[in-house]
Amino acid sequence: MGDNAISYGSMLVLSLLLLLPPLAKGCDMFTGQWMKDPSYPLYDPSTCPFIRREFACKKNGRPDLDYPTFRWQPQGCKLAWFNGVDFLQKNRGKKMMFPKSMAVFDMYAPLFCSQVSLYYDHIRHYLNLHIPVEIKFDRNPYLVDIVSEKIGSVMKLDSINDGKNWLGMDTLIFNTWHWWSRKSWDYIQIGRNFTKDMDRMAAFEIALGTWGKWVDTVSIFQGISPSHYNGSLWGEPAAHSCAGQTEPLWGTSYPGGLPPEVGVLKRALGKITKPVTLLDITMLSLLRKDGHPSIYGIGGRTGNDCSHWCLSGVPDTWNEILYNYML
Ligand SMILES: *[C@@H]1O[C@H](CO)[C@@H](O)[C@H](O)[C@H]1NC(C)=O
Ligand SMILES: *[C@@H]1O[C@H](CO)[C@@H](O)[C@H](O)[C@H]1NC(C)=O
Repeated sequence: MGDNAISYGSMLVLSLLLLLPPLAKGCDMFTGQWMKDPSYPLYDPSTCPFIRREFACKKNGRPDLDYPTFRWQPQGCKLAWFNGVDFLQKNRGKKMMFPKSMAVFDMYAPLFCSQVSLYYDHIRHYLNLHIPVEIKFDRNPYLVDIVSEKIGSVMKLDSINDGKNWLGMDTLIFNTWHWWSRKSWDYIQIGRNFTKDMDRMAAFEIALGTWGKWVDTVSIFQGISPSHYNGSLWGEPAAHSCAGQTEPLWGTSYPGGLPPEVGVLKRALGKITKPVTLLDITMLSLLRKDGHPSIYGIGGRTGNDCSHWCLSGVPDTWNEILYNYML
């Protein structure tokens, strides 16, 4: 405890320095660059009970340890450090839900580890005793329904019955896409038509349209999390995955540009009249070719995971942005 109090004290001083100038209203949090910052990571992943083994890269033997020490620096402002207690207090009495794929659930779990352990005890205390915020997670990788029928599992692009689970929430934080690149259905249904498969971008856009008609709560859409399997896209044509990457790209833009699904998502969100905010984390994540587990995930060398992220790491920045958005 004593040590924590000291490190908390110095963190406070540091954060006062770092917070100048404060987050400007209207600052574009999504354009900027990564910088090395010795005060990161903001928590020790070995003390965070919510981190699943496949994302605990350090524990899994990842030898290079720079990857959690980069801070996202937007061009026009500085992000406030994530403060779990404050996050809960700001949302006191509210209900929040994260309907999204399991993988992203795991990325949000350490939301409550983004503090020194002194804070962690506070958060546990809050969650156990007061529960001022109801936080729910709902596994729904595609947003639209997947239903088990006689012919097999059917993804219904124009149906969103699962949305009933989201009613009554004050804030919904959505995410999708991660699972769209893998086929985990037998049929796709649109109206009365069934097909075994179709252009995934087209399917994704129809599903987003269905979702757009459904959504009426204040919603936040967590943008698309990119993967790194093609070195040509970051100027290293010999690289066929993220394995061995130890540094971010230092510039502000990704040579390969944004993946096409981002365009589809933005187009779909542009058609929605309801208040949906996109937390556009794709570009900042694209710059982090070093941030994935690669062979330090669960499958070891055979796994070579360049689509999920090490924790601590890049998703902490997504959480930081979510927090700053709510400030
Ligand atoms: C269903 O298939 C028919 C025939 O191929 C086509 O004319 C129709 O537009 C399709 N409907 C939908 C909703 O895709
Ligand atoms: C990698 O990206 C380059 C540049 O866009 C493209 O030409 C190539 O087909 C891609 N390779 C793979 C395996 O997708």
